Amino acid sequence: MYKLEARDIQLYYGQKHALKGISMAIKPNTVTAFIGPSGCGKSTFLRCFNRMNDLIDTCRIEGEILIDGRDIYKDRINVVDHRKKIGMVFQKPNPFPKSIFENVAYGLRINGITHKKFLEETVERSLRQAALWDEVKDDLKKSALALSGGQQQRLCIARTLAVEPSVILMDEPCSALDPISTAKVEELIHELKNKYTIVMVTHNMQQAARVSDRTAFFYLGELIEYDDTPTIFTNPAKEATQNYVTGRFG
Ligand SMILES: Nc1ncnc2c1ncn2[C@@H]1O[C@H](COP(=O)(O)OP(=O)(O)O)[C@@H](O)[C@H]1O
Ligand SMILES: [Mg+2]
Repeated sequence: MYKLEARDIQLYYGQKHALKGISMAIKPNTVTAFIGPSGCGKSTFLRCFNRMNDLIDTCRIEGEILIDGRDIYKDRINVVDHRKKIGMVFQKPNPFPKSIFENVAYGLRINGITHKKFLEETVERSLRQAALWDEVKDDLKKSALALSGGQQQRLCIARTLAVEPSVILMDEPCSALDPISTAKVEELIHELKNKYTIVMVTHNMQQAARVSDRTAFFYLGELIEYDDTPTIFTNPAKEATQNYVTGRFG
């Protein structure tokens, strides 16, 4: 059974045809990287999986997105509940102007959880999973905004993990980070795939090669090629993929 499936997705922003017949199936506990030049539709496609495009007025979507075999656009599911199962990490770390503890506890609190011990345990577990616990365990009451960019991004990952999603979407999660923080987040992604299905957009091809199992190459709203990462980087089927991964365009 696939964790995520897209079937013939057509997406329009007004008149603009931004995704052209995208189909893709993603297995559980894998890391999938979306690569391709700026504007080719990577973020747009990523946002189909948590229905974030619904927030854009001009956006119209056709086709099916299945999560655990359920069509999330057709079944009468609660969009808010659904988004909880799908965590999202953005390009720029976006912690709330609250303490480190409250950032991680946030998702639980808005779900009405007040049990102190449970909150403490979940915060600790999530920070450990996000490889941040040792750096912040004595400062949980401090403002999250005082952390470095790399720490803030791991905090945002911890905040996502606290509500136990099964899928984590990441849109260029390292593009605002220095190389050391980037290495930490990459290592983390590698560990998290034991428990989660991860889909990440990256403009960094070395990163895609390092962390992903499967890579999808997009160009002008089309999915050109989707295969095992080593195949995409060393022996792609399409010339456009070859040109892109060897840096001849993009
Ligand atoms: N909210 C929006 N409204 C209108 N057009 C958009 C919107 N978001 C993205 N687009 C357009 O859709 C195309 C794909 O964009 P995007 O998914 O952001 O590409 P990528 O993430 O690969 O850089 C681009 O041409 C972009 O200008
Ligand atoms: Mg993008």
